[in-house]
Amino acid sequence: MVKVITYGTYDLLHQGHINLLRRAKELGDYLIVGVTSDSFDKNRGKLNVCNNVLERVEAVKATGYADEVIIEDYLGQKIDDVQKYDVDIFAIGSDWEGKFDYLNEYCKVVYLPRTEGISSTMLREEKNANYRIGVVGSGRIAYRFVPESKVVNGAEVTTVMNPYKENVETFAQIYGLRAYTDYDQFLQNVDLVYVASPHLTHYDYTKRALLADKHVLCEIPFMLTKKQALELYCLAEERNLVLMEASKTAYCPAFGHIVTLVKSGIIGDVVDVKASLSKMVVSPTRELDSEQAGGAMTEHSPLTLLAIIKLLGVDWKDVDFRSRVENGVDIYTKGVINYPHATASFTLGVGVKTEGNLVISGTKGYIYVPAPWWLTDFFEVRYEDQTKNKKYFYSYDGEGLRYEIREFVSMVVNNRRSCYKLRRRESVAIAEIIEKYRNHENVTEI
Ligand code: CTP
Repeated sequence: MVKVITYGTYDLLHQGHINLLRRAKELGDYLIVGVTSDSFDKNRGKLNVCNNVLERVEAVKATGYADEVIIEDYLGQKIDDVQKYDVDIFAIGSDWEGKFDYLNEYCKVVYLPRTEGISSTMLREEKNANYRIGVVGSGRIAYRFVPESKVVNGAEVTTVMNPYKENVETFAQIYGLRAYTDYDQFLQNVDLVYVASPHLTHYDYTKRALLADKHVLCEIPFMLTKKQALELYCLAEERNLVLMEASKTAYCPAFGHIVTLVKSGIIGDVVDVKASLSKMVVSPTRELDSEQAGGAMTEHSPLTLLAIIKLLGVDWKDVDFRSRVENGVDIYTKGVINYPHATASFTLGVGVKTEGNLVISGTKGYIYVPAPWWLTDFFEVRYEDQTKNKKYFYSYDGEGLRYEIREFVSMVVNNRRSCYKLRRRESVAIAEIIEKYRNHENVTEI
């Protein structure tokens, strides 16, 4: 019996897949089809697969060509499968010509003709209207956002706005975008708005975009008061629009897994969360400018508060801050947040350097996420009995902004107002703590 094996994602199964499976089956007597798992696709940067693995397996089975369907879950698995299933022929479409020659050592490799004019990517693009994203602001984060958006289907950055003509034109030229210095004109030419402007302008730009019926993704610090955050989430809800805080760590795969592992009790009851984040900067810069709401708290607390609030919730009892202030800006802030049955602290610096790690302590063990924890790609669950320790590794692709952009576009496409990765009430709680600090409540200078 001649055994053939082939692999693919088989998203939105189409005629090209069917032709390929038929040709592969014709090469032998028994066809094994490897369908990629959802996590494997995500890890290799395929972020926009529409059907989940069960749907894709069912679709492959329904073609009637597969004698057996297996799941492909890791890089290098093909070599294992070919040997494990005693495969004679590995077959794949000609778009992969040459890429699997290394399997010749284990079986015969055949590249089959690919069907022209159709692909899952094409179908996904047709399915998702291509939304026009407009970027407000052309600073450092905006420069990182545009390349990241290119790996997300369904939306494309087309437009940029900045009241300063020279800045906006340079940015527009680099990325081939339309440039505006007038916000109202800009709003008329976009579907989705990414607010990446100076902190103090977030509220106004976001509100005006919502009033113009645009969905908004707003950079951190999202809002500087609880009232602003609540008002804008209500406005978005009333107008049936997506409003999302661009807290990138919230949407990255490893951080999401830390939260679910903790919630499932792997380290027992959480008693303490410690999160630190420091980035040294040199004047003159926005981070050290009191007129632009600079300082460690506004710059860095949103991500550390995200970790604390995701893990311990929004029902904290009190919060207390210690800051080193220079020229009206906190170059270092330590905050302690007390909960009825737990405590949390965050340490932030723009002019003081600290170790940027995250430690979550529980009654059975703890989770250690090394610096820079906010770009999580690795963490370890540790116990008293070290033989039980477990390390977890993840991919954190590119600048990591692709995960939040994908979530934002998915919320718009699927008409979802809320996202469990960062709930609106959690985002409001973050704004409330920042507000307390800015109002000097329980702040002691050191
Ligand atoms: N395939 C094909 N003809 C097409 C599309 C895909 O022969 N028009 C083959 C691929 O070469 C591969 C198999 O179908 O052997 C599964 O490919 P997959 O990556 O799932 O399909 P694509 O449509 O290429 O998906 P994407 O656009 O996401 O890359």
